[in-house]
Amino acid sequence: MLRPSLLSFYILALSSIVYAKPSFHAALQDIRIQARQQDGNNNHSVVLLADLATNGDVTRSGEIIRNILQTTAPATVDNSIVYTRPDAVSKSGQGGLDSAVCRKDTCCIWSYIVPTMVTAFSENGGTRCSALARSAIRMVPEFARDGSVGSGGADGSILLSAGELQRNENRGLGNYANLILSWRDTFRLYAPGISVADLIQVGAIVATVTCPGGPRIRTFVGRPDVDDRIPPPAEHLLPNPASSASNILELFAAKTFTATDVVALVGAHTVSHQYVTEPKYAGFPQDTTAGVFDTKFYAETGGAVPPVGVYSFESDKVLSTDAVTQPMWNDYAQPGAQTKWTDAYATAYFRLSLLGVQKLNGLTDCSGVLPLSKPVP
Ligand code: HEM
Repeated sequence: MLRPSLLSFYILALSSIVYAKPSFHAALQDIRIQARQQDGNNNHSVVLLADLATNGDVTRSGEIIRNILQTTAPATVDNSIVYTRPDAVSKSGQGGLDSAVCRKDTCCIWSYIVPTMVTAFSENGGTRCSALARSAIRMVPEFARDGSVGSGGADGSILLSAGELQRNENRGLGNYANLILSWRDTFRLYAPGISVADLIQVGAIVATVTCPGGPRIRTFVGRPDVDDRIPPPAEHLLPNPASSASNILELFAAKTFTATDVVALVGAHTVSHQYVTEPKYAGFPQDTTAGVFDTKFYAETGGAVPPVGVYSFESDKVLSTDAVTQPMWNDYAQPGAQTKWTDAYATAYFRLSLLGVQKLNGLTDCSGVLPLSKPVP
């Protein structure tokens, strides 16, 4: 059983006490890098977050989240976990969304929102995921860029803080941003508490499982939104396509991720397309199976020449050849690695989805509302 090291607790404690002081911050950065190295190259991060690090788990949700963060429980849910709307809603068959019994059940509203999302995220009769699904998946690391452990994160700031969405690094996310805000306006009529932070997060998980091969990642709701009077977070805290492998690993380590996590997470480029990085190849995907969440991306990145019609980001190429990350990369590139990769992706992604949320004990597990996962065709 994996347990968080004392060092990890030390990091969390330090980060909450001294985060604002630059000299301490530099020292903290060193400790985090050491922590990543000590975790080893084949392990996920087990660092606890927020109230789970300070108060432990005092609720059932807190316990489940702790187990997943410490990798003693899977971050995926299988297709047998299905949400059933409260009796009175399903029996009446009408007006369910607006009923008192639905309002009382936190997951009920999500059982109406999720099918709307699935329609937006599916393409070609459900055999691949759409451009909106890709935006949904990309938006998550974009908003997790701000600050360090315990600050910023999954708080909706990318849509709510003035000017953040318009930043260069967020180019191309405008259409999806508008869709999220329209979902918020529609569904808040029935559930005023729905947060933009949850819509972004649930949207990304629904988008992932809508792609054939995508994992069904455990889904919690209840994230509060950032106060929109607070200025947007700092820029440039996530890597860009020109970053070196060590720079990429350090920036993710500052968010508690190990090299194992990073290699798994960038596998999301299995469904991505690029538009602005290299205008000459605008619209090119990063592997030959567009819209499918498979491991082709690993096999097709890093060769001297990518397959015809594919564009590989430099940042992915350096990870595919770096001494630390290459072994894991090659592992996922092997035939038959699909489940190994999607399990690793889900574990790292689950952590990403909670960064910056202060009260993890207060979240509600609504995983049953997710659509069922589909195999790689
Ligand atoms: C080393 C870290 C990363 C770098 C440097 C990076 C860079 C990029 C770039 C440059 C684009 C294309 C922008 C364009 O030219 O239009 C892109 C797209 C995308 N990225 Fe990443 N990314 C990173 C990590 C991630 C992670 C961790 C995820 C998800 C977990 C992710 C998901 C996506 C998706 C889904 C798209 C496609 C968007 C679309 O097709 O519209 N990326 N990324």
